[in-house]
This record gives sequence, structure tokens and C-alpha cells, in this order.
Amino acid sequence: MRLLNKLLGERSEQSTPKPIETAPLVDEARIEPPHTGSRESLVALVDSFPYWYQNIYLGQGVYTLSSPTLHNRLWQCLEPMLPADLAGASVLDVGTNAGYFCLKTKLKGAGRVVGVDNMDVFLQQAEACRAIWGLDIEYRKLDANHLHMLNQRFDIVIFTGILYHLKNPLGVLEQVAELCNDAIVVETEVIPPTRESVVHVRLGRRGQVAVTACRQGFMKFIEKDELNEDGSNWWVPDTECVVGMLRTAGFTRFSQPHYLEETRMMLVAAKRSPSLLKLTP
Ligand SMILES: C[S@@+](CC[C@H](N)C(=O)[O-])C[C@H]1O[C@@H](n2cnc3c(N)ncnc32)[C@H](O)[C@@H]1O
Repeated sequence: MRLLNKLLGERSEQSTPKPIETAPLVDEARIEPPHTGSRESLVALVDSFPYWYQNIYLGQGVYTLSSPTLHNRLWQCLEPMLPADLAGASVLDVGTNAGYFCLKTKLKGAGRVVGVDNMDVFLQQAEACRAIWGLDIEYRKLDANHLHMLNQRFDIVIFTGILYHLKNPLGVLEQVAELCNDAIVVETEVIPPTRESVVHVRLGRRGQVAVTACRQGFMKFIEKDELNEDGSNWWVPDTECVVGMLRTAGFTRFSQPHYLEETRMMLVAAKRSPSLLKLTP
């Protein structure tokens, strides 16, 4: 969310991406949404927001952004792990933003779909996109730290681009595990596995504890806005740390990690076997 607050406050040529005619990675364009209105009204809708994070097809060749971004590639990676038809499975999208994954899962046959976010502006974008697509999706303003307030259970939880925004990621993952029947899709900034990291800490059985070199299983604290000038980034875990937290929360089976970029990793974790999602490559 680069310079998000600044962008939301200052409207400029640079911060107003122009809708484009084609975006090859965004395959919603294979079908037209039912409630597009005129092309001009779609362009006006896109322009009425100073900033879009997600690239969503609105019909008539209009997209919210000028090119595909991370979540479009994430979907390409995730879709083969989903059944062809979600057959009424319920989905919760935490940090839904403009609702890209809610739209995609609903179009794939999901039943109850709920998207939560703590920022009004993104929920407004999500609602506008939902109305154009004419889909039954519920958006709620809710902080991820309070997911227990939903008082609902879901088959699939989408947890992408959110873990590193949380001060207490393990506590939130424990809440997710409580309300998740089957599987969670996690995507996050990570410490790259391609570079060597070493942390020395005391480990060992009682009486044999010694300072030991650890090469994985840790999380870097981001105190201020050192990452992307975004003060809402708190932690960068490595992949083993993500898996360890998911195991601690109650997930038992894991897909291979998929690296969308050097420092962006996606994996699926399941609580039950068989899972609706395919965990093997
Ligand atoms: C990097 S974006 C990721 C959006 C989307 N999940 C994706 O993968 O494309 C982070 C989103 O999480 C939301 N968010 C950040 N912290 C949150 C919190 N504590 N509770 C709920 N939403 C939060 C932001 O408003 C933003 O929409």
C-alpha cells in the first residue's frame, strides 16, 4: 500500500491510474458484468477514487488499474488449487480491499461470501464493483483483530496481503482457525528464502541450552515506516515462521510455498482431509 495515506489525501495525475482497454492477466473480461451502464460512467467511477490497489474489470473494456498487479498473479497461482466449481462453499476475505477475491470466488460458485476491511474507502470501491457485477456479496467494516465478532464459520478464508499489517499476527490466525472449517489461503511479504539469514538465540533441552545459529523460523519487526513508507507494516516473517504460526493456530496440512516475487509468498493450509483445495502441486 505504497504511500497510501498520501495518495488518498492528494489527488494527482500520477495517483489516478487511467482505465485501459486490455489487461491480459485479468480474465473476468471473458464475461461482461450485467450492470455496467455507459463506458463514460465506468471511467468516471474509476476516476472518482484517488487510488486503487486492486485491478478489477468493470466491463466495456474498463479496468480499475492500467495493468495487472500482484493479486492478479496470485489468482493465477491459486485457481488451479481450487475445484472448478466451489459448489456453495462459504468464503471470508480478510482485508478484502476492492473485493477482487470475493468477486472471483463468487463467480466460481461460492455460496456465502463476506469481505471485511478496516478502511471505508476500500469498502466503497468493493461495493461499487459488486453492484456492477450484480453479485450477492456482503462487505463489512471490521478490523481483522476482531474477526470473532463475525460469529460465523467459513469453509475457505482468504488471508492475502494482510498478515504483515497486523501487530499480533498469531492471535489473528488463531481467530481465523476458530472460524475456518477447511482451508486458508495466505499470501504475505516474506524474508526471501534466496538469501541467507541467521539469528543466534539460546535453544536446547533444559540443562543443555546453548546459543544456537537459526537459519529460519523468524520474523523481522518493522517499527515505523521503513517498509514502503507504510506505517501499517509491522512484521516480515520467513516462510517457516508463517507455517509455524499456522500450525500453532490449528492448521495441519500445507501446500508448497509459491513465490510470486522474491519477497512475496503464497501457500494454502488446511484443517481437514480431504480439503476442498488441492494442496499438492
Ligand atoms: C495490501 S492490501 C491487500 C488487499 C487484498 N487482500 C489483496 O491481497 O489484494 C491490505 C488490505 O488490508 C486492509 N487492512 C489492513 N489492516 C487491516 C486490519 N487490521 N483489519 C482489516 N483490514 C485491514 C487494508 O485496508 C487493505 O485493503
